[in-house]
Amino acid sequence: MNDQHLEPLRHHPEGRALRAEVDLARVARNLDRIQAASGGRAVWGVVKANAYGHGAVPVARALEGAGVHGLAVSSLEEGLELRQGGVRCPILVLGGLRPEALPAASASGLTVALVGPEHLGTYAQVLASHPLKLHLKLDTGMGRFGLLPSELGECLPELRQLAPWIEGAMGHFATADDPDQGFAQRQRRVFEGCLAQLAEAGIHPAQRHHANSDACLRRLLDEDTHVRPGLALYGLSNVAEGQALGLEPALALVAEVARVKTVPAGTTVGYGRTFVAPQPMQIATLACGYADGYRRDLGNRAVVGFRGRTFPVVGRVSMDYLTVALPQAEPVAPGDPMTLFSSDGGSPHSIERLAQLLGTIPYELTCALHRRISRRFFP
Ligand SMILES: Cc1ncc(COP(=O)(O)O)c(C=O)c1O
Repeated sequence: MNDQHLEPLRHHPEGRALRAEVDLARVARNLDRIQAASGGRAVWGVVKANAYGHGAVPVARALEGAGVHGLAVSSLEEGLELRQGGVRCPILVLGGLRPEALPAASASGLTVALVGPEHLGTYAQVLASHPLKLHLKLDTGMGRFGLLPSELGECLPELRQLAPWIEGAMGHFATADDPDQGFAQRQRRVFEGCLAQLAEAGIHPAQRHHANSDACLRRLLDEDTHVRPGLALYGLSNVAEGQALGLEPALALVAEVARVKTVPAGTTVGYGRTFVAPQPMQIATLACGYADGYRRDLGNRAVVGFRGRTFPVVGRVSMDYLTVALPQAEPVAPGDPMTLFSSDGGSPHSIERLAQLLGTIPYELTCALHRRISRRFFP
C-alpha cells in the first residue's frame, strides 16, 4: 500500500472519495508473529470496536482463517455481529452481560466474561437452561472490571455452583508498556493467589490469560495457556519490541483530491485563518475531516503522502475536509489519491507517529475511523 501505486477512488460506490484500505494478509502474519512471541500459546484475538476501526467481520474472518483460537469483543451486539457475519470460532464478550442477556448469548454460542460479584446466583439459574462458557475476570490491579481478591472468598459458594461453566480465568495488565515491570509482576502474583484460592475450592479453569499485546511482546506470560492481544494484530504497538518483531500496520487511510487551486501569497486557508500562504502555492482539498476520525488538532501539524513524498496539512481540519499545501509546480489534479494514514510504520504519517504527535495512543486514531468511511479489504 505504497502511495505511489494507489488507484484513483473515483468509482467509489458511495461517491465519497475516502476509504480505509485494510490488508488482511498482514493481519494474518501479525497473528503468527504474536503467537510465536507468546511461545505458541493460543490466541484470543481482540476485535472489539469494529476491530479497532479496521472492520470487525472481515478482520474476524481473516483471523479465524489464520487459526486464531477465538475472538474477543466488548458487547453482546459485537458478538452477534460476528456470528451474523459467519464467524464460527469461540467469541468472548469481555464486558460481561446482565442475566437477561444470557439466553441470547447462549443461543449464539458466545462465551461471557463474569465481571463482578453481582448476579452470580441468577447466572447459575439462567445457565441451567441456557448454557454457555464463562471466563472469570479477576481484578488483579486494573481497577476496572473483575472480582477483587477481597471479594473472591465470599463468592466461592456461588462460583462453585457455576464451576461446570467456568472455562477460563483472566486478568488485565495496567502497565504492560511500562519499562518498570514491578506493578505487572505484582498483578501476576495477585492472579496466582486468586487461582490458588479457586483451586482450593475445587474450581480449575482450563484456560488462563492475562496478557494484552504489550505483555505478549514483553513475555509477561508465566503459566498462561492463552493470550489476548488486540493492537499488535493490527501491526501497531506501544513498545519498541513491536518493531523488533516486524509487525506490519494493516490499515492505510486514503482520500482523493476533491479540488485543487493555485493561490497567491497572503491567501488564508480554513476556519480561523490559521494558515497564510507564504508564497504562491497550490491548495488541495481532500474529502476527509474530523467527522471521519481525522483529528482536528492535526491541522498545521501533520503531513500526507503523495507519490512517495509528503506534504503538509495546512489550516484547521474541518468536519468533512482538510487542506494540503503543495508547491506551485507540483503536478496534482482532482481525483489524485493521497495517503492520510500510511501503513508504512516508518513514515511520518504512520498511525504510530501521528499518535505520538498528538500525545495519544494509536488505538484512539484507528477506533475513531467512522463507519461512513468505506473499507476495502485485501486478502
Ligand atoms: C480486557 C482486554 N483484553 C485485551 C485487550 C487487548 O489489548 P491490546 O490492544 O493492548 O493488546 C483489551 C484492550 O483494550 C482489553 O480491554
